[in-house]
Amino acid sequence: MKKLFIKTYGCQMNVYDSARMADLLAPIGYAPTDEAEDADMVILNTCHIREKAAEKVYSELGRLRRIKDERDGGMVIAVAGCVAQAEGAEILARQSAVDIVVGPQSYHRLPEMIAKLARGQGKALETDFPAEEKFDSLPKEAAVDGPTAFLTVQEGCDKFCTFCVVPYTRGAEYSRPPAQIEAEARRMVEKGVREITLLGQNVNAYEADGVSLAGLIHRLARIDGLERLRFTTSHPRDMKDDLIAAHGEIGKLMPYLHLPVQSGSDAVLDAMNRQHTRDDYFKLVERIRAARPDIALSSDFIVGFPGESDKDFADSLDLIRAVGFAGAFSFKYSSRPGTPAASARKQIAEDVKDARLQTLQALLLEQKKDFDVSCVGRTMKVLFEKPGRKAGQAIGRSPYLQAVYAEDAAHLIGALHDVTIEAAMPNSLKGVLGSAPFRAAAA
Ligand code: SAH
Ligand code: SF4
Ligand code: F3S
Repeated sequence: MKKLFIKTYGCQMNVYDSARMADLLAPIGYAPTDEAEDADMVILNTCHIREKAAEKVYSELGRLRRIKDERDGGMVIAVAGCVAQAEGAEILARQSAVDIVVGPQSYHRLPEMIAKLARGQGKALETDFPAEEKFDSLPKEAAVDGPTAFLTVQEGCDKFCTFCVVPYTRGAEYSRPPAQIEAEARRMVEKGVREITLLGQNVNAYEADGVSLAGLIHRLARIDGLERLRFTTSHPRDMKDDLIAAHGEIGKLMPYLHLPVQSGSDAVLDAMNRQHTRDDYFKLVERIRAARPDIALSSDFIVGFPGESDKDFADSLDLIRAVGFAGAFSFKYSSRPGTPAASARKQIAEDVKDARLQTLQALLLEQKKDFDVSCVGRTMKVLFEKPGRKAGQAIGRSPYLQAVYAEDAAHLIGALHDVTIEAAMPNSLKGVLGSAPFRAAAA
């Protein structure tokens, strides 16, 4: 057996792709390992979204090169993912220890590329966009790891936000046929998966064989044994009526929606080409909350987009206060080669970006804490995923993706159970098994 080490950067779609690459290489004799040091093959599954993410890849390649040199060859190094797509042959030129460069839509060709390398036919580079062919040729058998799984249903993006590389690294929007997705979901459930998160760069733009994302969720919700569904990431413009309604109709669809808005300023939203206003977002949130009153929202924000004034930034803070988020990711704008915003004249100074990010994150953290504290005393279903640090403890996720731990719950790993939340810590909630009325009676 050869050993395979995969290091994953970036979004959940890369997590899914890494798992599929492992599935693809298992039949040709590669078993996973946790250490690059003893691997015969290393794959870096990379992210190009911000400059820092992309630069990390080269420092990791430098480290791998030293391991490879010490071992006198005998290690295949592959760069996959969005940096591979964006930089292609440049990677081979910049780091000679790399043997294979493969983009996110062509990794199904890895076995051929490895064979070519073994035959001494040179380094291999594949950066085509055959999304359909990829999904058709991936193995049916998938290794699942625990009761939760990601399932990519849609790829690519046609939105072209002016700051973003994704339309260039992942290509045009493509949706997988619903029957193929359902079959994959059923296989996952047979192996013990209880929660599936449907993935797409623009997942709510999903549309295949006349089925919308809402239609797909209705279909998957009928699978016995599948207890929870989530989807990410959505664009506000693609939140169609049937998808909003689905939140009120499907109990298995979790009441937690990631709906990135990026900015609360109309001027910035326009310059970003988001194609909606702050008011559109407020109205959308209102409609979603009407469909599912217990829903909690999360979002992504960018600070320091070119031209962002103090007033624009204040508008973002104001939007956050008006909506109230249970969680959020926020980033300093990072200029990406080839995107329209990179050549905008009014770039924002780094220290201004730093200060804005701090202010924004402080507000978001306060809101997250408030939300967590509001959960104390409530009973909610937790899907237990793994053992905790202490004997008997188990850790799982609430409907709102909060980490929850409980004592005497190790036997529940892989299952859903009622938990009453007792306390909110910075990174998790502490709960006890059982519902509140039951506890009151027992006390
Ligand atoms: N499709 C998703 C986002 C994918 S990228 C959407 O439209 O919301 C994930 C997040 O990274 C984005 O929401 C954005 O907040 C952030 N991001 C993307 N490009 C960025 C850049 N150039 N600089 C800083 N943050 C960026
Ligand atoms: Fe990037 Fe915008 Fe597409 Fe999201 S919608 S992936 S931010 S271009
Ligand atoms: Fe990064 Fe590519 Fe995902 S750029 S965020 S890995 S789609």
